[in-house]
Amino acid sequence: MLGVSGGIACYKACSIVRQLVEAGATVDVVMTVSATEFVRPVTFEALSGRPVLTSLWQRDQALAHIHLGRDSHLIVLAPATANLLARAASGIADDLLTAILLATETRVLAAPAMNDAMYAHPATTANIATLKGRGWQFVGPAIGPLAEGPSEKPGRMTEPEEIVAHAKRLLCAPSSALQGKRVLVTAGPTREHIDPVRTISNPSSGKMGFSVATAAFTRGADVTLVSGPSLLQDPTGVETVRVETTSEMLETVRALLPEADVLVMAAAPADYVPRSTADHKLARADGPITLALEPTPDILENTANQRGSRCVTVGFALETEPGLERARAKLERKQLDLIVLNSATQSDSGFECDTNRTTFITQRTMTELPLLSKHEVADKLLDEVEAML
Ligand SMILES: Cc1cc2nc3c(=O)[nH]c(=O)nc-3n(C[C@H](O)[C@H](O)[C@H](O)COP(=O)(O)O)c2cc1C
Repeated sequence: MLGVSGGIACYKACSIVRQLVEAGATVDVVMTVSATEFVRPVTFEALSGRPVLTSLWQRDQALAHIHLGRDSHLIVLAPATANLLARAASGIADDLLTAILLATETRVLAAPAMNDAMYAHPATTANIATLKGRGWQFVGPAIGPLAEGPSEKPGRMTEPEEIVAHAKRLLCAPSSALQGKRVLVTAGPTREHIDPVRTISNPSSGKMGFSVATAAFTRGADVTLVSGPSLLQDPTGVETVRVETTSEMLETVRALLPEADVLVMAAAPADYVPRSTADHKLARADGPITLALEPTPDILENTANQRGSRCVTVGFALETEPGLERARAKLERKQLDLIVLNSATQSDSGFECDTNRTTFITQRTMTELPLLSKHEVADKLLDEVEAML
């Protein structure tokens, strides 16, 4: 259930409904009367495909204030106004939404949205503390511009994508073996410097690893993502550490590994580093030049001892030729529990695209998957990890 109260961020609640419905949820929208001043109920009705309730006194819905909350798996309040939080904290039930909140034991996720001074007011602080004490979860508010002008204080509603990510986690984590587990993911390329302005790298976008980190967060894991240079934004709820070189990635993984229950190595680290890096920009030569390269440290091989048998480890193998044997050998040599073989020969698989063609290989099994989005591959991969856990 999505409860919408009367703040300027109501227009963003439309996007929340849309995203929840796309993710497969059935969404009942309940609006306060003030909220209907900002967005008309018909907008939410069209987006959710279900009637929108705004009043305790609606015909044929006499007991909605009891049923709606009880029958929901989660109640999201977005935007949650200062007034709604105050009424809920005081146990007031003078409209449909607050009556539902009083009559339910369903978990509540609230996204406060208000003027920064309203948020900083001791009354609001006390109300939020009271509601947290009763088990409510909060997301935001964020810092950023408000409708009335610029602000550098919290007040603005967290973006819909982030609210939806937290809602998904609350819904999915209880049934996942990854809940509470520590998951370490690597992603993206690494970059080795020839001189201050030139590098050796590869076209990895980071999409595969970022998808795994996001999916692990949804399943309730405590996720750290170690990413090389990628243009993607830090995933919601995931502690993201940005590194540049393969050595930096190795050192960061080493430091985080003792805590990890699961390691997923989806990065494409550069395999070679120039033997020496110039400290000034090299002048362009007229003829060809020769660059001496040496191998970078292999992250999986250099952490095999540290991993032990406790940490479920997944590696990736990117090949341009049928690479089954090479992938199997890598599984053995690097002591992996699962290796995901993906092909870089087609434009819909491997680097820089949103989809992937993969084969999952374990000690005993080999499963060729169809063309899937990287989000779907991430989910299949974590299903395997859960089974291993
Ligand atoms: C244009 C406008 C924007 C408003 N924006 C907010 C807001 O973002 N957050 C908030 O707490 N109140 C905001 N208010 C005040 C609430 O609408 C008011 O407190 C109302 O009583 C909230 O009722 P409700 O909590 O039942 O929805 C705004 C009012 C107006 C007129």
